[in-house]
Amino acid sequence: MTWEELHAEAMRCVRCPLAATRRRVVFGAGDPGARLMLVGEGPGAEEDVAGEPFVGAAGRLLTRILESVGFTRQEVYIANVVQCRPPDNRVPLPQEVDACRPFLSEKLHMVAPRILVLLGSTATRALLDPRARITEVRGQEFHRDGRLVIPTFHPSALLRDPAKKRPVWLDFQLVRRRYDELGSRATTP
Ligand code: URA
Repeated sequence: MTWEELHAEAMRCVRCPLAATRRRVVFGAGDPGARLMLVGEGPGAEEDVAGEPFVGAAGRLLTRILESVGFTRQEVYIANVVQCRPPDNRVPLPQEVDACRPFLSEKLHMVAPRILVLLGSTATRALLDPRARITEVRGQEFHRDGRLVIPTFHPSALLRDPAKKRPVWLDFQLVRRRYDELGSRATTP
């Protein structure tokens, strides 16, 4: 399957009940050849209208965090655990996460990032460990499928609790260091 075919399939997806209430499918954004990929939870109200991930308040904060360590949104790839907005911004249900998982797995396979940043508990539980607690694993480095995985707090958690800003900034400094180290090494991990 090509990237375009995957995108087209996502646009017409009705694999879970979120299809009935969404306005737009939010596939992802950025460079599909990126070495750094970030995964959030799911679209909110603004993303649902725009069809783009992380364009609301949390998204603007994410953009600023990325820029603070010298990344642009265009040079990374940004996706979510689910592609359609859960009503009232609730956490996606396990069956919605499972229904959307083939899309996320295929994006991971095709983008093949060297570093994966998991934004918040939903992404961390979906892609690292279903029992993980974000407060315990954030800022740690994990190795999965030949790539480095770093969980951190979700930007919307920072909007609610400014005390989380410093840990997230430290986590992104770690991401920056590891990313810069890739450049000086061979392509195998
Ligand atoms: N929160 C997310 O997890 N993803 C988005 O795209 C926007 C807000």
